[in-house]
Parts: sequence; structure tokens; C-alpha cells
Amino acid sequence: MKKVTVIGAGFVGATAAQRLAEKELADVVLIDVLEGIPAGKALDMVESAPVERFDAKVTGSTADYAPMEGSEVVIITAGIARKPGMSRDDLFKTNRDIVNGVCENVKKYAPNSVILMVTNPLDLMAYTAFKTTGFSSDRVIGMAGVLDSARFAAFVGMELGVSVKDISAMVLGGHGDTMVPMPRFTTVGGIPITELLPKETIDRISQRARDGGAEIVKLLKTGSAYYAPSSSVVAMAEAILLGKDRLLPASVYLRGEYGYEGFYLGVPAVIGAGGLKRVIQIKLNDEEKAGLDKSANAVKTQMAEVGLA
Ligand code: NAI
Ligand code: 2OP
Repeated sequence: MKKVTVIGAGFVGATAAQRLAEKELADVVLIDVLEGIPAGKALDMVESAPVERFDAKVTGSTADYAPMEGSEVVIITAGIARKPGMSRDDLFKTNRDIVNGVCENVKKYAPNSVILMVTNPLDLMAYTAFKTTGFSSDRVIGMAGVLDSARFAAFVGMELGVSVKDISAMVLGGHGDTMVPMPRFTTVGGIPITELLPKETIDRISQRARDGGAEIVKLLKTGSAYYAPSSSVVAMAEAILLGKDRLLPASVYLRGEYGYEGFYLGVPAVIGAGGLKRVIQIKLNDEEKAGLDKSANAVKTQMAEVGLA
């Protein structure tokens, strides 16, 4: 079986490990700074295996990264999560130091892996990992678009009363307040939602998707979302492990695509063996391009504010 390392054995990391193991996608190594937590959660998952009937091995490690050797995919969730009233941006400084430390170990023990970044602020953390590891940009990808699109799809399903299985949604841009739901490219059974829902409804659920993370934080009070985030990053890991070449929205390093260069932003991307295969460039109308420009500028401004660019 292949190996995936999940760094950060908190809510997102542990749930991602569980999903990877239950789907038998890989053996999983769970790493955290906390004493006992990764080993305890890993053992608990191992003891669920006879009931859930999976053969993937799950092991935990505290601060020792050697067990990650040979990992094909490394999922980074280490950091602190957003608290109520805290913006994703507030997280930057703490999480940058954590991610930098983690990346030194990834470079040492899994130099050929693909990194899937989850830690917030997402687009800046993906950039940080890209710079710290020196990996080629096709091997450092941020997870956000799959989650934001899943939220949008869930809301479309609620409005139309149809199965989510027939919904394919697309949300691009940075993982923040300026993310850009794309109604023309969000379809139900192949029909764009612009043909199925009034503009006011689309605007309302677009805003709900933009506020999706904060809506969960407000309800949970002590942390942020983890079921949908872990599903989303595991879908990306699966595309890599099984070489599926899936077309997914992902935060990737841009080199002129959509007119942007030198930073990470959510765009449609083909993800398969080895990571990012290519960025898909679609013709956007004026409103969509203006939305993406605004989001790109927000990411660039944030990078400048924290001295990343
Ligand atoms: P959590 O607090 O439950 O887990 C984070 C874990 O990281 C903790 O167990 C902590 O001990 C560990 N950690 C801290 N420093 C570490 C280090 N130096 N090395 C290894 N582990 C370390 O948080 P949760 O809910 O799992 O979220 C994790 C991150 O993911 C947060 O930054 C959150 O904002 C982000 N997130 C991003 C999403 C996205 O769409 N990209 C969606 C959901 C969460
Ligand atoms: C979310 O969107 C916290 O970024 C995380 O749920």
C-alpha cells in the first residue's frame, strides 16, 4: 500500500487520516507536536479497522518525522484553527512558523512527495511551503476550492431539492472573503444554475458559500469545520494516489495564467499522479474576471502586508 503522511493530528488531520484509511487509499502516518495524541488517535483507528473492514495501517508519531519516509502525499494541517471573530489572516504569523518547521522535515524525509496544504491562511501557506521546500510548484498544492465548491454545491442542492450527486460546482479565487463562486460553471445534470435559479437566490447562496467557514465557526464556537475540509483534501489525495487526472479547483502557483504571476490562487486544475498536471484556462466574462481580479488582489495585498512578496 502507498503511504500518506498527515501532519497535524487535530480535527482536520485526524478525520482526513480516518477517511484515507477507511477508503484503503494508503497507509497513514499521523504526526503532531502533542504527546500521545497522534499515537492514541492512530491506535483508535486501527481498532476500528476490524469493524469497518479496512487493511490500511495507521501509525502516530510525536515530533519524530522519520516514519514519514517514502510518503507519496503529505497533507499539512498543522497550525492553529480560526476562533470566533478571528480572520484567516490573523492566523498567518503563528501558522507560518509552524509550517516552515514542518516543511523542513518534509524536505528531509519525503523529498519526492506532493504536499497538499490545508493550514490557513491557505493561499499564503501554500506559497510558504513552496518557497521553504524548494519543491517544484506542481508538487505543492493548496486545498480550498474543492471545499468552497462543495459548500456551494450543498446550498444549490438545498435550494433546488435535487441530489448533490448531479451537482458540479465551481468556486475560484483565494480562500477568503473574496472567493468567487462561478454560477455559469456550476451545473445540475449539465444545466448551469443560471438557467435554474433566480439571480437573487444565486447571489444569496454565493454569499453563504463565501461565509461558509465563518458560519461553521460561529456554530462550533471552539474550532472550525473539519468534515467537509477532510473530505476535500482526501479527494485531492485520491486523485494523486490513483492518478485520476481530476479537474478540481485548487490553489496553485501561477505563472501568467489568467494574467497572474508569482503567487497562489484557486483556479481549475488537473490533479493526478505527481500533483498538478496543468491549469485549465477558461474564458471568463467581465463580471467573473473582475471578481477573480479582486480576489487575486486581496491575496497579493495580504502577502505584501506580511512581507511575503
Ligand atoms: P486543530 O487545532 O484541531 O489541529 C491542528 C493540529 O496541529 C493540533 O493538533 C496541533 O497540536 C498541531 N500542531 C501545531 N503545531 C504543530 C507543529 N509544529 N507540528 C505538528 N503539528 C502541530 O485544527 P484543525 O481544525 O484541524 O485545522 C487545522 C488548520 O487547517 C487550521 O489552520 C485551519 O484554519 C485550517 N483549515 C483550512 C481549511 C481549508 O479550506 N484550507 C479548512 C479547514 C481548516
Ligand atoms: C473553512 O473554510 C476554516 O478555512 C476554513 O472552514
